[in-house]
Amino acid sequence: MRFLSSVLLACTALLSSVEAQNGYKGFNYGAFFNNQQAKRRNDFAYEFNAAKQLPGTNGGFTSARLYTMIQWGTQNTVIEAIQAAIDTKTTLLLGMWCSSGQAAFDNEIAALKAAIKQYGKAFTDLVVGISVGSEDLYRITPTSIQNGGGPGAQPQELLHYIQQTRDAIRGTALQGKPIGHVDTWTAYVNGSNSAVISALDFLGVDAYPYFQTTMENSIGNANRTFYDALQATINVSQGKPVWVTETGWPVTGPTQNQAVASAENARVYWEDVACSLMAKNVNFYYYMLQEAQYGNPSPDFGIKGPGDLMQIPTRFDVRC
Ligand SMILES: *[C@@H]1O[C@H](CO)[C@@H](O)[C@H](O)[C@H]1NC(C)=O
Ligand SMILES: *[C@@H]1O[C@H](CO)[C@@H](O)[C@H](O)[C@H]1NC(C)=O
Ligand SMILES: *[C@@H]1O[C@H](CO)[C@@H](O)[C@H](O)[C@H]1NC(C)=O
Repeated sequence: MRFLSSVLLACTALLSSVEAQNGYKGFNYGAFFNNQQAKRRNDFAYEFNAAKQLPGTNGGFTSARLYTMIQWGTQNTVIEAIQAAIDTKTTLLLGMWCSSGQAAFDNEIAALKAAIKQYGKAFTDLVVGISVGSEDLYRITPTSIQNGGGPGAQPQELLHYIQQTRDAIRGTALQGKPIGHVDTWTAYVNGSNSAVISALDFLGVDAYPYFQTTMENSIGNANRTFYDALQATINVSQGKPVWVTETGWPVTGPTQNQAVASAENARVYWEDVACSLMAKNVNFYYYMLQEAQYGNPSPDFGIKGPGDLMQIPTRFDVRC
């Protein structure tokens, strides 16, 4: 008994930052289709319902992570995913896009405030967290710039945006909802970004062993590689909860070092990583339900391939 409880204590300390979470399970949802057409209320609702109806998951995928509050193609109209979430009782990890400068961020804030006003409690009750930014710190690194990764944001800018978000929700029904940021584990372990961590309520980490090409990244090592990345993030999290906001393994696409994209390997990754995260009750957003409705995205991380989401089968068994 004594032995058991000390083992238990050791484990608790190691994974303390991922324990005592709510076990939200969801997918990441972009604001537009791969032809740049905006997703509308019914499109989002269709995706959210398809996520709930995944065979073998017991209606488990009931949360949605968004990247922006703004309806695609508008200045600051509330994204229609909010109405779709209300329609389908889907909880929301909101996203504020932070890599287009202050004027664009003002529009994110305007849309956030408008959503609170427009939808009230029906909306605010569904919100499980707000992520200020997505991989902005990764995109300012030499690695991302070399890969043509697009603009990011400096830690100092993110600090302003986090404060502006806190100010915007003060005195509203969203006050008290956790405010976080999403980035790669490599951005978190970079000491130049520690002030951002200090300003957060939780860290959302994105980790893809498939892309970790400087390591031995075969599927056989993927569980270990993933959990090392998670642990490295926990180690610098200043005791704050670490949510897994993106991870996955592609079903098709190029081989990256030792990482081979295939349905069998995606199934192994699901069983090892996704199932163990769910068993640990970690807040978890898989990448992704469907990469694109049509075309041949490469790599393609979709549990479902191109086609009608409700009609086509999953490409691998998602039971745990
Ligand atoms: C570390 O973080 C700083 C600030 O975000 C960034 O400018 C720098 O490029 C990062 N270093 C590496 C090696 O990624
Ligand atoms: C996390 O910190 C522990 C304790 O300092 C250390 O033993 C371990 O190697 C670290 N893990 C990673 C992945 O950095
Ligand atoms: C993957 O690693 C985690 C953390 O070490 C562990 O809990 C889980 O059982 C592992 N899964 C497999 C299939 O080895």
